[in-house]
Amino acid sequence: SSLELGPYRHFMQKEIHEQPRALGDTMEAIIDAGVFEPTLFGKDAEAVLRGIEGVQILACGTSFYSGSVARYWIEAISGLPCSVEIASEYRYRTAVANPKHLVVTISQSGETLDTMEALKYAKSLGHEHTLSICNVPESAIPRASKLVFYTRAGAEIGVASTKAFTTQLVGLFALAATLAKLNGRLSEEKEAEYIEALRHLPGSVQHALNLEPQIALWSESFTPRHHALFLGRGVHYPIALEGALKLKEISYIHAEAYPAGELKHGPLALVDDAMPVVVIAPNDSLLEKVKSNMQEVRARGGELFVFTDADSNFSESEGVHVIRTPRHVGVLSPIVHTIPVQLLAYHTALARGTDVDKPRNLAKSVTVE
Ligand code: G6P
Repeated sequence: SSLELGPYRHFMQKEIHEQPRALGDTMEAIIDAGVFEPTLFGKDAEAVLRGIEGVQILACGTSFYSGSVARYWIEAISGLPCSVEIASEYRYRTAVANPKHLVVTISQSGETLDTMEALKYAKSLGHEHTLSICNVPESAIPRASKLVFYTRAGAEIGVASTKAFTTQLVGLFALAATLAKLNGRLSEEKEAEYIEALRHLPGSVQHALNLEPQIALWSESFTPRHHALFLGRGVHYPIALEGALKLKEISYIHAEAYPAGELKHGPLALVDDAMPVVVIAPNDSLLEKVKSNMQEVRARGGELFVFTDADSNFSESEGVHVIRTPRHVGVLSPIVHTIPVQLLAYHTALARGTDVDKPRNLAKSVTVE
């Protein structure tokens, strides 16, 4: 059962390895239909989604970072404006509501108080179109929302969220594609290409999981450190944020993430030979930009730990370590590149001997303010 550890040492490790299955289950209805349909989000979803002119995402923690990836997808694929905000900020500011925008809350537990209150606040401002992306059926947030997409990650026990994050991304990608379709912006060829990309995703995630022994070796370089910097650009910037969050949460190493182009506006001052720098650098349109950011780090003595794909022709050199996933998977790349940062945090925490599944001061679900 999902409540047993089996061959794993921690629930977090088990949940990391469950991701191919969790992703497959979450996308099952999409793959079976072979198309993106509003019914993925509920029986009467078409009526709600059709007139939507923009998207407001609200969430906390790791769920906020999946929302941050989704913003890139929603604007690029559907052409609709999309904002993402931390729920505890949104709920206490005077926000301007556009009732033609869809409010999307993202929550693994469905019980996070700040996210629930942000949803109530949005409704009080006149938002009627609400969608919950949630992993726990019948929890408070989906019950308070018009539409629901349930991720099928299964019970997540480890406090640090892993499989909930990647399955949320599947639901959010499906939302971007569905909104694009309703707006006449998704050609049949593109739709078929996206379905095919989803179909290959569990296998690509499995290939990334197979990198675990190499990543465990890297973790030896992080175990004695006090700080680490994570860099990414574009749709992979939120993956850098998620990698830094995982490392903070379970290994207690201070980690920060920056969009790589922002290095020169501050964090470069922190870089010396005591600062390991993790770079999420898949072979996408920003790769050349990321490479020059990496040279800026190297020139200050920072040691680089680069996650990339096989087709990006990086070479290892003094102070530059490279781990490659087998190939660049295109639009779903942020999902595949989440796996290495999860594994890096896990193995670093393991070596530091922390309580991986129950990190100090943190709770699985925060139902108080
Ligand atoms: C807590 C958990 C995090 C989680 C966040 C949001 O802080 O420790 O792992 O990302 O809450 O939780 P939710 O259930 O709303 O996704």
